[in-house]
Amino acid sequence: MPLLGLGVFQITDEAECVAAIHAAFEYDYRHIDTAKLYENEVAVGKAVRESGIDREELFITTKIWPTDFGCDSARRAFETSLGKLALDYVDLYMIHWPVREGTEETWEVMQGLRDEGLIRSIGVSNFSPRRFDQQFFKRTDEVPAVNQFERHAFNTKPEWVAYCRQKGILAEAYCPLNRGQRLDDPQLVQLAEKYGKSSAQILLRHQVQEGLAVIPKSSRPERIRENADIFDFEISTQDMHVLDTLDEGKPPASGPEEDWY
Ligand SMILES: NC(=O)c1ccc[n+]([C@@H]2O[C@H](COP(=O)([O-])OP(=O)(O)OC[C@H]3O[C@@H](n4cnc5c(N)ncnc54)[C@H](OP(=O)(O)O)[C@@H]3O)[C@@H](O)[C@H]2O)c1
Repeated sequence: MPLLGLGVFQITDEAECVAAIHAAFEYDYRHIDTAKLYENEVAVGKAVRESGIDREELFITTKIWPTDFGCDSARRAFETSLGKLALDYVDLYMIHWPVREGTEETWEVMQGLRDEGLIRSIGVSNFSPRRFDQQFFKRTDEVPAVNQFERHAFNTKPEWVAYCRQKGILAEAYCPLNRGQRLDDPQLVQLAEKYGKSSAQILLRHQVQEGLAVIPKSSRPERIRENADIFDFEISTQDMHVLDTLDEGKPPASGPEEDWY
């Protein structure tokens, strides 16, 4: 799985989404992160087919939302997503958010779809260590390939990252740019000047250097390019620690079931 992907949340205009993905492919992204919830799976599939890039080179993620959890409904939701994407398979299918009812059944459906070859790997999103221990691993021995959760220098979630490492789950950072807020933080700006990079690039490099995947969103070609230009420099150990001090220990974003982590 490429550690850098383009996130397409909130790009609901089809032409804008297709154009952003084409720009991303031009700047060597090979990984696109969508979800049923984002209402742009059709655009993602269109951009993939138009690109002419060998399907095996691409990594396409989509996700199932809790309103579709359950045996029959999960299968139907997957088939609808695959139909909208108009692809033969999805590289990564994720449980978008854990809820009290139906998560386990949904995982079993995903395992079946994976065994049928319609999904290459299965993962989860927004799973805290507590959710994994109290819910997920009570019902299955299979370790999800990926856990995708909000993560950036201002919210580093050390326990979540350590848990993933211990279990062999790849941690993937969403909102890796903190939604573009705080890019003017003085310490971040100072580091950006030191390395001759932008604040956004420092935030992304910080995470990739720790072994996390990142899926920054932009619909502007110049930013899509900027966000990919993070593999030609290395942040020193000392400066990685400086970035860790920006952490504000924010609580996780609330999902479909308020405060249920
Ligand atoms: N699993 C989940 O529950 C979940 C939740 C949220 C997000 N996600 C995924 O994670 C992806 C990224 O998260 P996100 O979109 O919420 O936040 P983000 O990537 O942290 O930030 C995106 C914002 O930053 C701006 N931006 C992008 N590059 C920039 C740059 N180089 N300099 C300055 N500003 C820049 C974008 O504006 P422009 O577009 O105008 O450039 C946009 O407003 C989503 O697209 C989605 O795929 C998953």
